[in-house]
Order: sequence, then C-alpha cells, then structure tokens
Amino acid sequence: MQKNIKIRKFTGIVALSLLVIAGCGKKTGQSGKADSKKTVLAADSAASKVKVPFALKEGKRLFSHYCAVCHGETGDGSGQYYGLTPVPANFTDKAFMKTLSNERLFKAIIEGSASVGKSNMCPPWGKSFHNEELEFIVKYIRTLSSQ
Ligand code: HEC
Repeated sequence: MQKNIKIRKFTGIVALSLLVIAGCGKKTGQSGKADSKKTVLAADSAASKVKVPFALKEGKRLFSHYCAVCHGETGDGSGQYYGLTPVPANFTDKAFMKTLSNERLFKAIIEGSASVGKSNMCPPWGKSFHNEELEFIVKYIRTLSSQ
C-alpha cells in the first residue's frame, strides 16, 4: 500500500516536470521564431539584391492584390482601370522613378497622390498596411525599374 502511494507520488512528479518542460519548450520555440523573423528582415535590408527575399515576395503579392488593378501587373501603369486621367504612375519608367525619393514614395502611398501635389486618383493606403508591409511595397516598386 505504502509503495503504491510512493509510486503515485513519483508518477505525479514526473508528469508535472514533463508539463513544465513542455511549457518551456514551447516558449523557447516561439521566441526562437520571432528572432529568426527579425534576422531574416535584417538580412533582407542588408542583402536585398542577393536572392529574392521575403520582403520582395510579400511586396509583389501586396502590389498585385492592391495596386496592379490601376498600375498594371508589371507596374507600367496599364492596369484594368484604363482610361484613368491622369494615368497611374509608371513604375517601370527609370527617368520618372529617379525623380521620386523613397520618402516621396512613402508619402504618396500612405497619404495618397494628392498629398504630393498630384491628383487625388491614388487613394491613401496608410490605414491598409503595417509599416513593414509599406516597406515591402516600396522595395518591390523599386525593382520594377531596377532603381
Ligand atoms: C484606383 C486606381 C489606383 C490604385 C488602386 C492605386 N493607384 Fe497609385 N496611382 C493612381 C493614379 C491615377 C496615379 C497618378 C496620380 C497623378 O499623377 O495625379 C497614381 C500614382 C501613384 C504613385 C506616384 C505618386 C507620385 O509621387 O507621383 C505612387 C507611388 C502610387 N500611385 C502607389 C500606389 C500603390 C503602392 C498602390 C497600391 C497599394 C496604388 N498606388 C494603388 C491610381 C491608383
């Protein structure tokens, strides 16, 4: 009888420690994930031209979904909404893209084209995206003219 109780106690302790270990394991796993995400992003900005990083894939996905309808899938301004006046900005035009700083791109995208002294045809997107996503989009737009 006494032996039985001891065994039960022992089993309880083992079960408890297993739970604790499992819990800790989970925590380390999660923070590990977040760390590696940060590392990937840092690597992206440092070596964005080396391989197709997550930032560009995500930028392309967001651009295709939200912007291509007007700006065109390739960014040349020939989206399905043709007939827009003025025509949507042509992101493949190197000369034009050279005139736009990153700050200007962010402002135009976040606050809309009217905020940079143009028409109000490009809506403000600031509330639609996180800062990170906006950076992905700008990074991707830059690749369309290889600027
Ligand atoms: C409803 C159509 C439409 C959609 C959707 C749209 N745009 Fe535009 N965009 C335009 C038009 C039209 C212009 C040109 C405005 C002008 O020249 O007055 C423009 C201009 C721009 C410019 C250039 C502004 C400048 O500084 O000259 C940027 C950058 C831009 N759009 C980014 C985006 C991004 C990024 C998205 C998607 C998140 C997007 N646009 C979605 C229509 C659109």
